[in-house]
Amino acid sequence: MSPDPFPLGPPAYPLGAPLVRREGREKVTGTARYAAEHTPLDCAYAWPVAATVARGRVTAVDATGALALPGVCAVLTHENAPRLAATGDPALALLQDDRVPHRGWYVALAVADSLEAARAAAAAVHVSYAAEDADVLLTAGHPGLYAPETVNGGYPGTRERGDFDTAFAAAPVTLDATYTVPPLHNHPMEPHAATAHWTGGRLTVHDSSQGSSKVCEDLAALFSLDPGDITVVSEHVGGGFGSKGTPRPHVVLAAMATRHTGRPVKLSLPRREMPAAVGHRAPTVQRVRLGAGGDGVLTALAHEIATHTSTVNEFVEQAAVPARMMYTSPNSRTAHRVVPLDVPTPSWMRAPGEAPGMFALESAVDELAVLLDIDPVELRMRNEPDTEPDSDRAFSSRHLIGCLREGAERFGWRPRDPRPGVRREGDLLLGTGVAAATYPVYVAPSSAEARATADGGFRIRVNATDIGTGARTVLAQIAAAALTVPEDRVRVDIGSSDLPPAMLAGGSMGTASWGWAVHKACMALRARLRDHDGPLPAEGLTAAADTRQEAAEGSPYARHAFGATFAEVQADTVSGEVRVRRMLGVYAAGRILNSRTARSQFIGGMTMGLGMALMEGSRLDPAFGDFAERDLAAYHVPACADVPRIEAHWIDEEDPHLNPMGSKGIGEIGIVGTAAAVANALWHATGIRVRDLPLTVDKIL
Ligand code: MOS
Repeated sequence: MSPDPFPLGPPAYPLGAPLVRREGREKVTGTARYAAEHTPLDCAYAWPVAATVARGRVTAVDATGALALPGVCAVLTHENAPRLAATGDPALALLQDDRVPHRGWYVALAVADSLEAARAAAAAVHVSYAAEDADVLLTAGHPGLYAPETVNGGYPGTRERGDFDTAFAAAPVTLDATYTVPPLHNHPMEPHAATAHWTGGRLTVHDSSQGSSKVCEDLAALFSLDPGDITVVSEHVGGGFGSKGTPRPHVVLAAMATRHTGRPVKLSLPRREMPAAVGHRAPTVQRVRLGAGGDGVLTALAHEIATHTSTVNEFVEQAAVPARMMYTSPNSRTAHRVVPLDVPTPSWMRAPGEAPGMFALESAVDELAVLLDIDPVELRMRNEPDTEPDSDRAFSSRHLIGCLREGAERFGWRPRDPRPGVRREGDLLLGTGVAAATYPVYVAPSSAEARATADGGFRIRVNATDIGTGARTVLAQIAAAALTVPEDRVRVDIGSSDLPPAMLAGGSMGTASWGWAVHKACMALRARLRDHDGPLPAEGLTAAADTRQEAAEGSPYARHAFGATFAEVQADTVSGEVRVRRMLGVYAAGRILNSRTARSQFIGGMTMGLGMALMEGSRLDPAFGDFAERDLAAYHVPACADVPRIEAHWIDEEDPHLNPMGSKGIGEIGIVGTAAAVANALWHATGIRVRDLPLTVDKIL
């Protein structure tokens, strides 16, 4: 790759400028329309019927009462619903047979003239079941646990380097601790919703999705259609955090209902049904063993995970993967075991793997620092590897030490009395904690088109998705920089499967993947413009590009973003309440392309990590087989008042081994390490080591 990404002239607009979101005004004035806010003429409404047993078979569906209600036009069941072809995701095989793999699995769908009528009809559908014994509880010793070949992300399930057992037995200082993370739920503000319309062999869908190219592809496969006969629009999306990364039941059910009834159909999932229908972060039981010399340098590291999946699909939260690259560890064992239970199918949730895995690893490093009486910032610095431990590849860039240093400086880490429970303000005990963060750098093939129009403007077309991040704005900045034109001359079209197909907004790789294709198309357009004489033709000049080859080539370097999170907490010695007083993160994530929207993503991730630390979590109730906390009344997330002071900073990182923009992903790293920083601060405040999230009162008093 050329070391100078924009060799043909100085950029007209600096990448990194804090431009405001292009659609911000539409969003705050309520004119931006989301998937459920499109209402075609004669639109019907659908409401799903969720299974009330944790395992078994549907023996009968009596829809007579529902169909007799006013305004009800259909009840779909496994007996009359359109047949679907199989896809790679068995969770989308909806209403195809009588099996109930978990509570909350959809067994029928009511369709009516109004939302109210659909809801009443769904309640009036009578489903009979042959229930079977269900098993929904993960334990570290569950007899069904097995070692999967690969885990989420395609990583090997188990890795051994050196001789862990011998090194651990010989280590002068050792730690052996088990940490748990409960099931966590994505709960984006906008529930999963779709409005589908099947007319004359064409299917048009407005869907709340992180990537409509993939939704289009899967709907084509499910309904045996040509993808060219389907348009999926995801113009504005109110968050997803992984749960909208692949098509979810709502969009398939809406498409089935419009095919069955011949009417446009709108379906928005009730909040309480989302935990069972759209994926969750699976619970993990994580044993970490560390062995070190008196100097704090690790000689042995083991991170072993037990987690659950469903009987529908194997999804293994790859929580031991970050331990393979974080620290010096000549003797290492990282392993996952999984048990299929009668639970909803887990899936991606912001920083799958890293978020829970780094809670355990970074808590363990803090515990080791206490055992060794070494400052936890210093201990991490002593364990910096020269190359990626698991692969021996050079890092493309690694500025964890820089993040720790700058974070310690900005936060006011020193002087710090390492003793726990010594800072007091009345009834409050105060403490500070630190943890490291990391997230891998990925890129996926994308395509884009750039056009110069006769009026002197530019138009970029790419099926990127804005899930609240400001994708339109940053892509305009990338295009403007590549074209060396002012950003306001660039129009950006995203959010439709009719546009050149591109990577979904996920894996912290949206901007890198889309931006690379946009950059390439813009550079090709510049070449065309340079070679063109005279005025532009009426249709303008267009250049298209894709990055299949670049994405397939990969990199000889180990590419990861790094960060350090610092937290100060107060614990109330009377009530047991823990509050975070302030949090500060410093990240090294390549070039930051828009300082305003990037800061918001870092802060958003850190806030989600604060939720994970203090309040988020659900329990599987064996009495009825589903998550007990299924709405925002029971599943608590942080409000503004929970986060009085939160700061995100970054290091200007020059990394020539990434993409033409020099950027790493930023969507997920903010959540990584944050829960550990808070738990470590709670230990410092109180002397109580809580190894089971969240840090609720019952674990502290
Ligand atoms: Mo994110 S969990 O990769 O959408």
